[in-house]
Amino acid sequence: METLVSKDEVRRAVAEARAVGQRIALVPTMGALHEGHLSLVRAAHERAEYVVVSVFVNPTQFGPGEDFEAYPRDLEGDLELLEAEGVALVFAPATATMYDPGATVIVDPGPLGDVLEGAIRPTHFRGVCTVVAKLFGIVEPDLAFFGEKDFQQLAIVRTMVRDLDLPVRVVGCPTIREPDGLAMSSRNVYLSPDERAAATVLYRALRAAEARMLAGERDARALVEVMRAKIATEPLAVPDYTEVADAVTLAPLDALDSSPARALVAARLGSTRLIDNLALEVG
Ligand code: PAJ
Repeated sequence: METLVSKDEVRRAVAEARAVGQRIALVPTMGALHEGHLSLVRAAHERAEYVVVSVFVNPTQFGPGEDFEAYPRDLEGDLELLEAEGVALVFAPATATMYDPGATVIVDPGPLGDVLEGAIRPTHFRGVCTVVAKLFGIVEPDLAFFGEKDFQQLAIVRTMVRDLDLPVRVVGCPTIREPDGLAMSSRNVYLSPDERAAATVLYRALRAAEARMLAGERDARALVEVMRAKIATEPLAVPDYTEVADAVTLAPLDALDSSPARALVAARLGSTRLIDNLALEVG
């Protein structure tokens, strides 16, 4: 496994792999890797011979007062995990390498970036789009892997690729959970033992909505109420949003029909913000 910090070295290594006919996959991450990230790496290996993982805590997607400084970093541990997965190349640039001080162009995610997470973190998705577009430009992957855990991010990256005609195929991968249902997240390490126990309420709320849907409920607002009521049973959890939305446009739904829908929740446990989501599939 090669670990590189410069864009030119990455371009050269990838070009060599491509020259011998290998398909290139990219898994973008911010490090502090867990089984959720590693599931993307494994999915990438199924579809490509040359797997690149980027490890970069992207400052432009953190707002003022968010956890950029405190965000967990463990490059050494990450490299061990990635080596064991048989990754070909890790790209771990410094901030000044990734962002030239003279750079002024950013990628605007459009209206999908204004709802849900975007309503609470107004500049978040333009930071995500900008860094992901840059990574696509540096690595030029055939395929790029993203987790459904960050469902809105996945929807926005798909839209960016479509609208900017980027020559990459985006692959979405299912959410990996702890045995008690909590979605794995680098931010889970912030939780105190009490908060960690309470944090399962996000998944419990999603499953309660799903159960009500399976029992025949088609009123999306009623399903939102089911989730709100469940989260309200957990005094340590403060909800940010609770939504049932179209899985492609993320527009709030009034009623479920045969088109794919998604339940999405965000809540704060102490100073930690957690998000989760679940497919709501009628029939
Ligand atoms: P990060 O939070 O490190 O996540 C990297 C990738 O892992 C994302 O595609 C995310 O959806 C996926 N992931 C995280 N937890 C997961 C889980 N429990 N199950 C499945 N997949 C999971 O998302 C980012 O970094 C950044 O925004 C990034 C795309 C790298 C741009 O900076």
